Amino acid sequence: MTDHYAVIGNPIAHSKSPLIHAEFAKQCRQDLHYGRILAPVDGFRDTVARLQAEGYKGCNVTVPFKLEAWKLSTSLTRRAGDAESVNTLSFQDGGIYGDNTDGAGLVRDIGSNLGFSIRGSRILLMGAGGAARGVIRPLHDEGPAEIFIANRTVEKAKLLGEKFGIGAGSYEDLSGKSFDIVINATSSSLKEEVPPLPQGIFAQGSLAYDMMYGKEPTVFLKFAEAAGAKYRADGLGMLVEQAAESFYIWRGMRPETGSVIAKLRSC
Ligand code: ATR
Repeated sequence: MTDHYAVIGNPIAHSKSPLIHAEFAKQCRQDLHYGRILAPVDGFRDTVARLQAEGYKGCNVTVPFKLEAWKLSTSLTRRAGDAESVNTLSFQDGGIYGDNTDGAGLVRDIGSNLGFSIRGSRILLMGAGGAARGVIRPLHDEGPAEIFIANRTVEKAKLLGEKFGIGAGSYEDLSGKSFDIVINATSSSLKEEVPPLPQGIFAQGSLAYDMMYGKEPTVFLKFAEAAGAKYRADGLGMLVEQAAESFYIWRGMRPETGSVIAKLRSC
């Protein structure tokens, strides 16, 4: 019998997750179907209840429902609890198990795919919304020398700084500092804007990472190149790696991701 999964979001038409999971399923010879479901903005809970009633095994959750998914979960992994954000639900024995695979996806993309060592590096994380919250603990667990959170609304950064015991502040506070890995977890690239980073923020040989991705380099990655970031990457690898982590949760198998990233890159 075919097992059913889906990604729930609003909007959802653009989602690459069905393609990614179809590739994983083929590779791992798993009999599953993975669809895409548009939920009304006020209809997430009902949509999840319907999927459970229909016998789905689980689902991924994307914008704008990750916080609601966290609230709806009847049990949470530590990383999902820390993030207050859930992107992976598993339905078992009437329960809703919530996890967040975004941070693991980012760590794997930076460490394994891009070959960058997080251990001992100085990391700047820009943004204090759900995207940033989801990756702090997994980055921290890799043993960096420092993580500093910068955000336009400084109070939000400070709250996260206190919660996770790391440095936090405004973009002005970054003056005179430099970092080995600069991660853009803001939504600024969507508006073709770049957070106001001071000169010298990119250390020698540093990596600029934008969680957003697109056919062309994002406006942040173009800025980073001009500002001297030697290595630059968008979030396509993270997207595939977070999907692989979800697949592992559901199916207990780790698919090979390099070929899937290359395939998405070319289409
Ligand atoms: P998400 O859940 O995707 O993180 P969010 O909670 O709306 O989305 O958070 C968006 C983040 O991008 C916030 O940190 C926001 O900064 P504020 O907290 O000050 O709003 C940040 N952001 C959005 N546009 C930005 C811009 N042009 N420059 C800097 N930061 C920006």
